[in-house]
Amino acid sequence: MKSFYLTTAIDYVNGSPHLGHAYEKILTDVIARFRRLRGDKVYFLTGTDEHGQKVQMSARQQGVEPQLFADRVSAEFRALLEKLLISNDDFIRTTEERHKKVVRSILQDLFDRGEIYLGQYRGWYSTRQEQFLQEKDRLPDGSWPEIFGEVTEIVEPNYFFKLAAHQAWLVDFLTQNENFIFPKYRQKQVLEFLKEPLNDLCISRPRERLEWGIPLPFDERYVTYVWFDALVNYYSAVADKTPSIWPANWHVIGKDILVPPHAVYWPIILRSAKLPLPGGILVHGWWMTAGAKMSKSTGNALNPLDLVTEFGADAFRYFLIREMNVGQDSDFTREQFLVRYNGDLANDLGNLVNRTLNMTTRFGAGVVPAPEVADEPELELQALWAKTAAEFIPLCEGFQFHTALERLFTFVKSINAYIEKRAPWKLGKSAEPADAARLRTALATMAESLRLATAALEPVMPGATEKINGVLGHARTGTWAERLVWGQSLTGSRVSPALVLFPRPQPAAPQG
Ligand code: MSP
Repeated sequence: MKSFYLTTAIDYVNGSPHLGHAYEKILTDVIARFRRLRGDKVYFLTGTDEHGQKVQMSARQQGVEPQLFADRVSAEFRALLEKLLISNDDFIRTTEERHKKVVRSILQDLFDRGEIYLGQYRGWYSTRQEQFLQEKDRLPDGSWPEIFGEVTEIVEPNYFFKLAAHQAWLVDFLTQNENFIFPKYRQKQVLEFLKEPLNDLCISRPRERLEWGIPLPFDERYVTYVWFDALVNYYSAVADKTPSIWPANWHVIGKDILVPPHAVYWPIILRSAKLPLPGGILVHGWWMTAGAKMSKSTGNALNPLDLVTEFGADAFRYFLIREMNVGQDSDFTREQFLVRYNGDLANDLGNLVNRTLNMTTRFGAGVVPAPEVADEPELELQALWAKTAAEFIPLCEGFQFHTALERLFTFVKSINAYIEKRAPWKLGKSAEPADAARLRTALATMAESLRLATAALEPVMPGATEKINGVLGHARTGTWAERLVWGQSLTGSRVSPALVLFPRPQPAAPQG
């Protein structure tokens, strides 16, 4: 079976990780876990982008060698992955030999075949963005937008990669593969960009200006442009794997790096290198705060590690996936986080778990009974589950995780409503045999429906769901699809008396 190959962008190591980085890893991890549960053999890659001017400058500012600097920050990114329960199979650093070797061999091959040539470059360069700018990037008053930082004019001999020669092919390709970029409207944006003629891409930087990069194999006086270097990571990480893992099924990236790097440079690099194209590019939006993109440099970055430490990785993952409609932007506020934490997690799910454990302990001697009756309350809940489960998988397949979770939590709420309706605490007081049967049924029904909701939640909350399964005495067997079917697999299970999953609900008002 060909691996289902998923990648995230590789993060710049010039600053510490922030919420944007955390979100992208979590989104990709949810997809990876979902696909594994669906039976795919997943290969999930993430990593760090370590060359270029910004890293060189940040290292200098701290008075350390770029490699040492990159080692430190890359380790921070790795530690974050662990903390967020990310199930990546590989972590690539662009300073690794396995990567540099592949970049050099692709460059040499393109040079030998005339796809790269020596020319003269004159242009405006933004250090902050690591890119040459065009006249159209200027503001109406002739100045450069703030996001580019310091802009300097440069004239120098440089190597160029023939982008323009592949423009017509790329337009054709995108027109014929209209689902290449998700969401679809982003694909239109790329085609719009391609209405203007492309310039060839300057892929070299003279070493006197930039030391910190991969030397061009055919001219050691230059290092490789950082985007050419970085994009190749997706291939270099798996280049020598057999059976072949390349091409990627999805590259998961943020909207700021779609055009031109991922939607223009990367397909053309692959085509020139005679390598197959990825299945698609999944483009997520930005986490914003007070109308601005959250980032390290804008100084508004929330340290994701703080929230994870405070509330746990599962709650953090749930919030990000529940809140963000993949592709669009979303505002991050602590208040909104607390609304979800207190409501969906502590009240709805956390309470359900505790009621189930508590009532099974009190009325069933800690063992899940077999259901005996199927009256309207049971049938209603089962019907809602059938509908929820039928929608859940297609929604996840279409990256509509926020809606999938919304529906799932409607089901969770309905389990709580079912418990209210059946009121086991009342049935427990009755001496009627029919009530005893209803009580056993209620205990069985709440345990089974909790088990089902937990199974569906696995990709999003891997830690919490494992704990819930543990206290339910549920040994997971069978495929995920089988586990999502209403049954009686918990009958006879011994449950634990209690589990505090989402402790200390917080006041909704801002702290401080
Ligand atoms: N190094 C390049 C990517 C090279 S991929 C071959 C880069 N790095 S980055 O550290 O700036 O960004 C990494 C990813 O985080 C990008 O996909 C970017 O869109 C994402 N995010 C950074 N800030 C973000 C938000 N505020 N919100 C959501 N994601 C954003 O670009």
